[in-house]
Amino acid sequence: TDASRPEGRTVLLASPRSFCAGVERAIEIVERLLDRHAGTGRTVYVRKQIVHNTHVVAELERRGAVFVDELDEIPADVPDGSVVVFSAHGVSPAVRDQAAEQALTVVDATCPLVTKVHAEARRFAARGDTIVLIGHAGHEEIDGTLGEAPEHTVLVETVADVAALQVPQQVPDPGRVTYLTQTTLAVDETAEVIAALRARFPAIKAPPEDDICYATTNRQQALAAVAEHAQVVLVVGSANSSNSVRLVETVRRQGVPAHLIDDAAGIDPAWLNGCGRVGVTAGASAPDRLVQEVVDRLRTLTGAGVTVTEVATTTETIQFALPSQLRPSRQDPR
Ligand code: F3S
Repeated sequence: TDASRPEGRTVLLASPRSFCAGVERAIEIVERLLDRHAGTGRTVYVRKQIVHNTHVVAELERRGAVFVDELDEIPADVPDGSVVVFSAHGVSPAVRDQAAEQALTVVDATCPLVTKVHAEARRFAARGDTIVLIGHAGHEEIDGTLGEAPEHTVLVETVADVAALQVPQQVPDPGRVTYLTQTTLAVDETAEVIAALRARFPAIKAPPEDDICYATTNRQQALAAVAEHAQVVLVVGSANSSNSVRLVETVRRQGVPAHLIDDAAGIDPAWLNGCGRVGVTAGASAPDRLVQEVVDRLRTLTGAGVTVTEVATTTETIQFALPSQLRPSRQDPR
């Protein structure tokens, strides 16, 4: 196969793309802890991948972070001052309890927008509602949110799951139901699941504002605009990154071929055959450096001029404050 194109090629870059505010914050938390603990013999443990990206995790590991799957992998005799960071996806109360039992110092990198969904789950369960949580079974964010009120929460993923919900076994009182969602779902698919829930439980209450976060929504919107003009789309992101996988699926539903790649090396030149316009984006956990490398590889593969055009649908300015443990101390009034 021959991906070269003597007449050149246009790369349509979706904007916004790549890191969201929650991912920036989570990575910065680990980086600051690594800086602070360098040379002290203290370890910075991270429970689960801090964000779902192989490159980010490998880089932090190289700098000394120790990733564990569960807290019981952390030895009992860790040097004083060692810390464990909870990943951006959040944890269930059971994990917090275990950390307390092991007397671990926790620095919480849970995205504030995930924390918001946890608070909703607690509040709605406390008022006696059944919570229908829309999300993907087995994803870390869902494990965390489910853990807030496991007795009062049922998980659905699809319209078929909504039809299969059992009253009264799973939904004791159809008049007292609230739905919540994972933050990184596809907006279009989720709307269908919500419509099915409303049809089945007309009294169902919505969360005060959308749980699908601004970053997820913006990246899907920008990519939809790109896909209108692209013949093939490349999404930079790791296979376990929910928002990245949703980007690929959304484009495919638009009828445009799309491929998830971890980095430039993942491009199969055969995908580019006959494609003069290539769309490119990155999921919220993928560094933008990887996107630049993808564009560079596209230049090499094209062998003629490549024009890069940004397709911007909105500008993001949102930033989240670091946890208080990492803010500069105010003990010194000057
Ligand atoms: Fe937070 Fe949304 Fe990013 S929930 S971590 S801002 S994808």
